[in-house]
Amino acid sequence: MAANVLFVIIPGHWKLVRAKEAGREPDPAPGLEGKRRSIHNTYLTLPVLIAMIAVHFPTAYAHAHGWAVIVALMVVGAWVRHYFNLRHEGRTVWWIPATAALAVVVIAILVRPSTTAAPAASGTVTFTRVQTIVATRCAECHSMHPTNPAFSSPPAGVVFDTPEEIAARKDAIEEQAVRLKAMPLGNITHMTEAERSELAAWFDQGAPTK
Ligand code: HEC
Repeated sequence: MAANVLFVIIPGHWKLVRAKEAGREPDPAPGLEGKRRSIHNTYLTLPVLIAMIAVHFPTAYAHAHGWAVIVALMVVGAWVRHYFNLRHEGRTVWWIPATAALAVVVIAILVRPSTTAAPAASGTVTFTRVQTIVATRCAECHSMHPTNPAFSSPPAGVVFDTPEEIAARKDAIEEQAVRLKAMPLGNITHMTEAERSELAAWFDQGAPTK
């Protein structure tokens, strides 16, 4: 995108300006080539937008085949742009947005989070044990002072610094770490299945916080 602007579109503008300054009739070729490259660039706008906001959709990027998800979404983005480019030429091809919408639904179904929750471990799991798990696997991000360099404040305002904060969010912990397994983010802290099972057992035991 940048190369098209830097090496073709802007130099084309300069040729036009210089021709006008010298009182010559400008050559239309650089302008037409610039327009062609601009249209090429429009195919990248929606894919770039998708990449920019993708960080808010862990279901997509934390997927085992996250690269394939982003490539598929980028193809759909370019396809939608093709619809607008044709429309600007006066042709409205409705089946393009229709197939794009269908493709998004298919992608969403393919990447839907697993509904198989971690099975509960056997034996009693104490709140002290839960605090240890959360401290090692979650608190590097979910803290008032995150030690993970990617965060300067607790993501989503979720903080697990004290036993009270962990107790207050026990349902959210169960949802994110046992059922959806969306957390830890990208499992960057290497939470094990056994630990998820321990959390599950703690919930089955009524999630005691004493
Ligand atoms: C690498 C950093 C990181 C780690 C480690 C991490 N999280 Fe998160 N967590 C995030 C980010 C980022 C968000 C916000 C996601 C978003 O905006 O979609 C988040 C959001 C959440 C939310 C709010 C979800 C919502 O939809 O409101 C909960 C609850 C949560 N995390 C729990 C946990 C638990 C429990 C653990 C440990 C098992 C954990 N997180 C580990 C980064 C992390």
